[in-house]
Amino acid sequence: MPMSNPPVLIDTARVQARVQEIARSIEADLAGHELTVICILKGSFIFCADLIRAIHLPVKCEFMGLSSYHGGKTSSGEVKVTLDMKEPIEGCHVLVVEDIVDTGLTLQYILNALKLRQPASLRCASFLLKREALQSDLKVDYVGFEIPNRFVVGYGLDYQELYRNLPYIGVLD
Ligand code: IMP
Ligand code: MG
Repeated sequence: MPMSNPPVLIDTARVQARVQEIARSIEADLAGHELTVICILKGSFIFCADLIRAIHLPVKCEFMGLSSYHGGKTSSGEVKVTLDMKEPIEGCHVLVVEDIVDTGLTLQYILNALKLRQPASLRCASFLLKREALQSDLKVDYVGFEIPNRFVVGYGLDYQELYRNLPYIGVLD
């Protein structure tokens, strides 16, 4: 099935350079600590894989599955946990890694849930942020790029499960 490549919003070189910068900030903030990274599936698996390889600290990696979009282009506002972690995070320095913050409802939901598990610290990183769409006063500790309120794909982000393997961020709308 032939599929044309969506136009570029953020090219591969900028994507990769920004990952390194985020890693440096995380290293500075968490120097001397072991870090538990929670990769939010599916969208953040590629960003997370690049990010943890760029972080020069002891890193454990966990996965949580959340779904909020159900295949469309607008947020449903409803968050479902489709996969939970096996390991406790009590007393751990936790970094939640997201692909994109749109309304912010998904990340807000997961941070509230993880706070109850009493980590030593809880931070979050999102590769992309649509500030115009943000519906909560959520503070994202590490943001790759702020982008306009458009539908983007690539670098882990999908439209109906396709385009996750693009190495850059493209625009679909
Ligand atoms: P939020 O709960 O509205 O912040 O939505 C977050 C989730 O919606 C992300 O983790 C993505 O899975 C999905 N999402 C939001 N905007 C986009 C987009 O532009 N492209 C692809 N997925 C998106
Ligand atoms: Mg996601």
